[in-house]
Amino acid sequence: MRARIARAAVPPESGALRERLDALASEAATAMTELRELARGIHPPALAQGGLLPALNALARRSRVPVRIKAPAGRRLPEPVEVAAYYVVAEALTNATKHAEASIVTVEVEIDTTPADAVLRVQVRDDGRGGAHFTGGSGLLGLKDRVDTLGGRLALHSRPGTGTAVLAEFPLQHTA
Ligand SMILES: Nc1ncnc2c1ncn2[C@@H]1O[C@H](COP(=O)(O)OP(=O)(O)OP(=O)(O)O)[C@@H](O)[C@H]1O
Ligand SMILES: [Mg+2]
Repeated sequence: MRARIARAAVPPESGALRERLDALASEAATAMTELRELARGIHPPALAQGGLLPALNALARRSRVPVRIKAPAGRRLPEPVEVAAYYVVAEALTNATKHAEASIVTVEVEIDTTPADAVLRVQVRDDGRGGAHFTGGSGLLGLKDRVDTLGGRLALHSRPGTGTAVLAEFPLQHTA
């Protein structure tokens, strides 16, 4: 709110400053929303109510980088899997915004229902600078732990210059 008040006081000729204050205001608003969701017990409301796809759509709407989502509608998955998959996409999207200078992020969700080993596959790809790694922050490592805990695996493909892909796979049999 203070950023918006400051913005209103900026003379029209200082366009760049206005834009920066706008960006500050919307980032602060996003942070507030995420904090509230976290405080309500980790599960964003859209996830608990509607499942993975509506929750991903909500993430995409808030994202500063355009997001394209390909995901099957309707089917609910075991709650721990939905929550972990959501956080994989949220962190990968935040990283793409913070580090990648990407112009688009693609999220693909697919459920492989081969009866012997049903698997949820989530892939988040950006077309940015690449060069992501598991050291230096806690985001990607935290995701890896989260996915490992559910018996899944997380892979990172990110050669410099070729964008970044985060791929998570979750077994659905044991968690069902
Ligand atoms: N999509 C990406 N494109 C380019 N570089 C990335 C991308 N994602 C991550 N990186 C690089 O990999 C590092 C590790 O990412 P990670 O998410 O673990 O940490 P972080 O984002 O820096 O901090 P945190 O997630 O703890 O807030 C980042 O610091 C950044 O240098
Ligand atoms: Mg991160």
